[in-house]
Amino acid sequence: MAKIVLGMVASHGPLLGTPPELWTGRVQADLQNPALAYRGKTYNFAELSTLREAENFGPQIELPVRQKRYDACQRAIAEMGRVFAEVKPDVTIMLGNDQMEIMGEDNQPAIMVYYGDRLDNVPFSDEQKQRLGPGVAVAEPNHHPKEAKTYPGHPELGLHLIASLMARDFDVSVSRIMPEQKESRLTGIPHAFGFYYQRIMGDTTPPTVPIFTNTFYPPNRPSGKRCYDMGVALAAAITDWDKDLRVAILGSGGMSHFVVDEKFDRDFLEAFSERDPTKLLAIPDNFYRSGNSELKNWIPTKSAMDVAGLKMTLVDYQPLYRSLAGTGSGMGFAYWR
Ligand SMILES: [Fe+2]
Repeated sequence: MAKIVLGMVASHGPLLGTPPELWTGRVQADLQNPALAYRGKTYNFAELSTLREAENFGPQIELPVRQKRYDACQRAIAEMGRVFAEVKPDVTIMLGNDQMEIMGEDNQPAIMVYYGDRLDNVPFSDEQKQRLGPGVAVAEPNHHPKEAKTYPGHPELGLHLIASLMARDFDVSVSRIMPEQKESRLTGIPHAFGFYYQRIMGDTTPPTVPIFTNTFYPPNRPSGKRCYDMGVALAAAITDWDKDLRVAILGSGGMSHFVVDEKFDRDFLEAFSERDPTKLLAIPDNFYRSGNSELKNWIPTKSAMDVAGLKMTLVDYQPLYRSLAGTGSGMGFAYWR
């Protein structure tokens, strides 16, 4: 019987791979964004600056503060890597999302299990780099290697998870071949998955089944409750798997971004760390917009870990502010073992 031995959740945003003096590059993207999502509504940069003026972000975006928080995140990532190497799972299930990288408007599955035998992580071409938003290219090593790399998938586990989820009334989409999208012309795994390979798993890259949840794009975003239930179903599927293997579940993304909402992040963390999911599942769905929505990759990790009876350790939380409007990313890291 397979066994869950490790769970992890980690933010993956580009600021984690961008020296603090260059964060202003991403502010250009904030200035161009007409719909910065904050507490269920959207604002342009000027409107958001006015709305949040009283929070006085000036001191929070001073370079020494940015550097201190960035350094804390690097230490947290290193700690996650240390724990991963120490536990050394035989196989991983990665919970992430696509951001119009390999899926597009022609087909956007709510939940998709990839059961192919390989995961390619492919760097941007020069042409793709030119099409990236401001301040993204500098952070490429956060999720892409210098040269394309291929990692093992786990078709057998993938097919087992698909059958188990279907048997538990999760009508998942499936893919044996990693999708490609005409618009982005990107190939290989999206950044949510690449982050774990680049920043946490190091040289230990066990066979992996990625599960894609559409956290970002209406009209078919699964609810927090659905994601929670999926984690419970995944835990049951692993226990049912007739293999003597040690399994890790790795959730990728979040916390609040591209507008930092420290209160939301801290309330989320409090609810998230409670065994009883009542508070967690009471968070209104309109808080899960834009990058915040990636926390829906954390929720099934948590519910699976609760079933497995593993104990959560919060490694760190850091609010990385980059502008007077409070844009940036809330970065959180936790594991269970
Ligand atoms: Fe992301």
